[in-house]
Amino acid sequence: MILEKYKGFVPEQYDKRILVTGGAGFIGSAVIKHLILKYPSYFIVNYDLLTYAGNLANLGNFENDPNYGFIRGDITNIALLSGVFDFFGITDVIHLAAESHVDRSINGPADFVRTNINGTFILLEVARAAWKDDYSAHRFHHVSTDEVFGSLPLRGISKFDENTKYDPHSPYSASKAASDHLVKAYHDTYGLNITISNCSNNYGPYQFPEKLIPLVINNLVNNRPIPVYGKGDNVRDWIFVGDHAAAIDVIFHKGKSGETYCVGGNHEMSNLAIVKTIINTYNKLTNSSVKPEKVIEFVEDRKGHDKRYAINTKKITDELRWRPLETFSSGIEKTVKWYLENGEWLENVTSGEYRNYYKEHYGKEIDEKRD
Ligand code: NAD
Ligand code: DAU
Repeated sequence: MILEKYKGFVPEQYDKRILVTGGAGFIGSAVIKHLILKYPSYFIVNYDLLTYAGNLANLGNFENDPNYGFIRGDITNIALLSGVFDFFGITDVIHLAAESHVDRSINGPADFVRTNINGTFILLEVARAAWKDDYSAHRFHHVSTDEVFGSLPLRGISKFDENTKYDPHSPYSASKAASDHLVKAYHDTYGLNITISNCSNNYGPYQFPEKLIPLVINNLVNNRPIPVYGKGDNVRDWIFVGDHAAAIDVIFHKGKSGETYCVGGNHEMSNLAIVKTIINTYNKLTNSSVKPEKVIEFVEDRKGHDKRYAINTKKITDELRWRPLETFSSGIEKTVKWYLENGEWLENVTSGEYRNYYKEHYGKEIDEKRD
């Protein structure tokens, strides 16, 4: 039995037993490390299906921490989830498990509906049943995205905030929007003690190299061309993953029940500028002289490509005293350096799976040579 390993577990030993879903992913693993370091009286249960994006190596030595447990499971598996809630006496949830890549959602939306919508619904149902005696004592924090708000005008100064109306465009963002609405509905209808965060684009170590920043680094390392969609003028607001983990911590502990909080890095950049910055950083760190115009390949635009995202962080800063601490220049240098020093991690996550993905996505085999 999957829980056998934890025989003798005494829930009362810990102030909180938090179920973190998607804890083997990019952001989830950062959240778990953050919680373990900061709250030694908590027990963290990482509940993750280990899809292509989930990798226990992302947790490193934290896997051996006495305040950490791992259950491989699907958030749509109501029987297993209920058993885990019961066994560990789960007091709170931080929900990150999701299908997270926009391009994959365009190529195959079914998994996004299943995990992001049905999975969130099942998790809410399990929490509703387990905590029915006193909802106020248990927090359900849902980690969501700014993509639910749609797209801002490219040259404008307006930003997304907590009052922006939902207007998702991709199957990914539509599925996240649906999950946000379900979470909010469980507060309004049943009184669940929920919070929601809508965050902008994360970057940092351990991000799967299908997302722009690690994809560019991986392609540089492997002498491959760098695909830039359309004209490369789309703008994203970049936040270092550790800052997002700190924001989730503060919202989880201090956010008001039923409220949403927008989280962002206050750092807007066009895709082309990001790619050029990475190339410059790579050149500096490896003493190379890769020329952007030689490696950048402008390819067909993403379908329904949102033009610009930007977050107004006033609410979380004023009410919860959080602000992003990492500057983009130091964060991107740390990130490029990490990928250069962790070739084995990159090789492990890209072998097989990424080749198949590249072929499906670009309709051709990975080209090992740079033009
Ligand atoms: P990720 O793809 O790196 O990780 C997702 C994790 O969820 C993986 O470990 C995967 O194995 C797990 N998972 C997937 N389906 C599952 C299922 N059915 N049951 C259990 N586990 C499952 O994603 P990420 O970038 O770390 O994003 C985490 C969360 O943060 C997502 O909800 C995403 O929507 C949100 N978010 C991401 C960003 C970003 O820039 N990456 C920004 C804002 C919000
Ligand atoms: O805004 C938050 C969202 O950020 C999260 O909710 C998503 O989970 C996360 O994947 C991310 O979505 P984006 O679509 O913005 O990220 P991505 O890294 O896929 O792309 C960033 C930009 O770069 C986007 O405008 C598309 C472009 N791009 C992306 C890839 C993979 C390229 O030009 N070339 C590429 O090869």
